[in-house]
Amino acid sequence: MSNQVPSPVCLVFDSGMGGLSVVEEMDQIGFTGRVEYAADTGFFPYGDKSDEALIRRVPSVARTLVDKIRPDLFVIACNTASTLALEVTRAVLDIPVVGTVPAIKPAARATTTGTIGVLATPGTLKRAYTHALVHEFARHCRLLTHGSVRLVELAEKYASGEGVRDEDLAEELVKLTGQAGGEELDQIVLACTHFPLLRDKLISLAPVGITFVDSGEAIARRVMSLLGQDIRRDAPKSAMVRGDLWTTGQSESSERLRKAASRFGFERIREIDIDA
Ligand code: DGL
Repeated sequence: MSNQVPSPVCLVFDSGMGGLSVVEEMDQIGFTGRVEYAADTGFFPYGDKSDEALIRRVPSVARTLVDKIRPDLFVIACNTASTLALEVTRAVLDIPVVGTVPAIKPAARATTTGTIGVLATPGTLKRAYTHALVHEFARHCRLLTHGSVRLVELAEKYASGEGVRDEDLAEELVKLTGQAGGEELDQIVLACTHFPLLRDKLISLAPVGITFVDSGEAIARRVMSLLGQDIRRDAPKSAMVRGDLWTTGQSESSERLRKAASRFGFERIREIDIDA
């Protein structure tokens, strides 16, 4: 990179493109500095991988990326990874690590019907961490859930500019809203960072009166607070610089990421070898 690049450097990490929704939130609230983006395309998707595989993979990828990129802060912009491997990743890094927590608490606070939905990957839904969040903040709610790998793939397609069919999205959505009690839903937690990439589509396809909630802005705020930055929605566009977009291997995801990169403002794609 050129030597005009502003400091600090924040590395945003996900299995694929989901973390780009977090980068967009950082931009919205005035993050100042350089954002590097890394997608573990060589191991995508995370949502259907075993716990053992992810607990091995995530810290190892994180370590390799941080050794190479030398950021000031590492963001695991992935619910599936954070709800399982946040602590093991912190243990191998010597910089602050921000994780992603399903936005169950704000949804449980906001519901007026007492019925909330969670759309996530199958991995996130089965985590003890997620169950603990529900127990702590949403015990008073009726909880409906749907774990979808397909929605992750549709989000990748959509973000890369490929068309997605409303019928395909609606089919996934109705697996949540069509459950018994689904007519009472007023809050749906998008507990996968890929899903906010589909927000406009989901809003247009969901029954009227449903609010979609996600953790993107909370993560962006946490990043800025750790770096001592104030929220500034009127920050100049030049405040946040998008650096390189790193991928860990060839897959359908890496091909799509190539297409998505410039749409999200990342000009240069670089591959990194992961020994894991
Ligand atoms: N974006 C990730 C999340 O927030 C998961 C996508 C995947 O299954 O790889 O959970």
